Amino acid sequence: MGKTKVVEPAPITIEQGEHCPVAHITWVGAPRPALSGHAMLDVMRAAGPIVEIPYVNTKFFMVTQHEMALEVLQNPKLFPQNVHSMETGERVPYTFIPQMLNGPEHAAWRRLLAPYWSPRKIDALHERVQARARMLIEEIAPRGECDYVKDFALRFPTAVFLEMMGLPVDQLDDLLEWETAILHPDEPDPMVARDKAMAAQGAVTQYFAQVIAERRAMAAADRPAGIVTDALDWQIDNRPVTDQELLQFYLLMFMAGLDTVTAELTYGMAHLATNPEDRKELVDHPEIVDKVAEELLRAYPIVNVPREASEDTEIGGCPIKAGQVITVSLPSVGRDENQHEDPLNVDFYRDMNTHITFGAGPHRCLGSHLARHELSVGYSEWHRLIPEYWVDENYVATESTGGMMALDSLPLKWNV
Ligand code: HEM
Repeated sequence: MGKTKVVEPAPITIEQGEHCPVAHITWVGAPRPALSGHAMLDVMRAAGPIVEIPYVNTKFFMVTQHEMALEVLQNPKLFPQNVHSMETGERVPYTFIPQMLNGPEHAAWRRLLAPYWSPRKIDALHERVQARARMLIEEIAPRGECDYVKDFALRFPTAVFLEMMGLPVDQLDDLLEWETAILHPDEPDPMVARDKAMAAQGAVTQYFAQVIAERRAMAAADRPAGIVTDALDWQIDNRPVTDQELLQFYLLMFMAGLDTVTAELTYGMAHLATNPEDRKELVDHPEIVDKVAEELLRAYPIVNVPREASEDTEIGGCPIKAGQVITVSLPSVGRDENQHEDPLNVDFYRDMNTHITFGAGPHRCLGSHLARHELSVGYSEWHRLIPEYWVDENYVATESTGGMMALDSLPLKWNV
């Protein structure tokens, strides 16, 4: 089946440091040719399982291989969540819930939240998720062209999110604007990008604070159904959850639940648009859509996951000081040749898909059932209504990278 597209990797130079390879990346965060981020990580992985990267006035370490990724993610005592700004070294002024919690506090939140994203709960949403995808694609299909990112990949998971939360779907455009500012600030200077993201986080927090206040002011019987209403009565460790905690939870949901599915859909569709034999396999055999979604998750992971060392330690022969940041690059890990046979080859019929695109250890993705469901529905509804399409040849696709890898736009065309 189709290979993942080979493009020029981003401009990096790698030298052998005292203990592990050191990679100098000339631009972080700026738009670059689509898929060059994964290609750059392929180069880094070839240099070693852990690579040191100078960044702003500091440096961090990047784990590139599957086995070492598990070593870090499954040892939360030694490698807890990273809570310091990479740019300033200061403690960040927020604690996203549950992602930035550790130990028993984290476990208590996971117990509270897990039932809302269980397979049973997500299966029950199927018709609404499918209807939302169908509505968006039916609107696009007669046009014969679209920007897949703007017209579908951003709108679909955000609309599902609003429905699950019990928030008005007409709020979609505001949410999309904030989401873009937080996750794709389109700003090569990391400090300016950080300021823009912080301003948008402030706007999201304000929005949710207002929603909570309005809901509390309503009579219980008038409150719209959904997670936002349920959450008003949540208890944790036998005490009510505070509004401040709810805001930290909503902010995380906003970032973890929306852009991730968007980003994954864009890479998956970029692959299918440029590998007609793979697309045909899906169109001819729509029943394999779950396998298609799974293999695309393996070949194009999107999240770089940060941790920080709780004490001086060593990993892969590389000394790490307490407080230093280690980023587990899942976009590299999914393509590790020590774990996956012929990893740049996209094979929907892989025997055992052992990818960890949803992470590993106690912080493994809470929303993986929802994500898988949205991906399968997104791919299957699109190919049912628009089976033949191609990337507009007049256009150079670009992507932004950072904590999250994502295509900025993907103009597609088809005959109508
Ligand atoms: C393709 C889509 C997605 C991918 C690839 C993805 C990936 C991940 C990864 C790698 C982590 C682990 C982060 C860490 O270890 O620090 C994570 C955590 C998380 N994800 Fe997802 N995610 C996706 C979709 C979603 C969705 C739809 C939701 C909505 C509920 C969601 C909610 C969360 C939450 C709440 C966490 C934090 C869990 C914790 O810290 O205990 N994710 N996700």
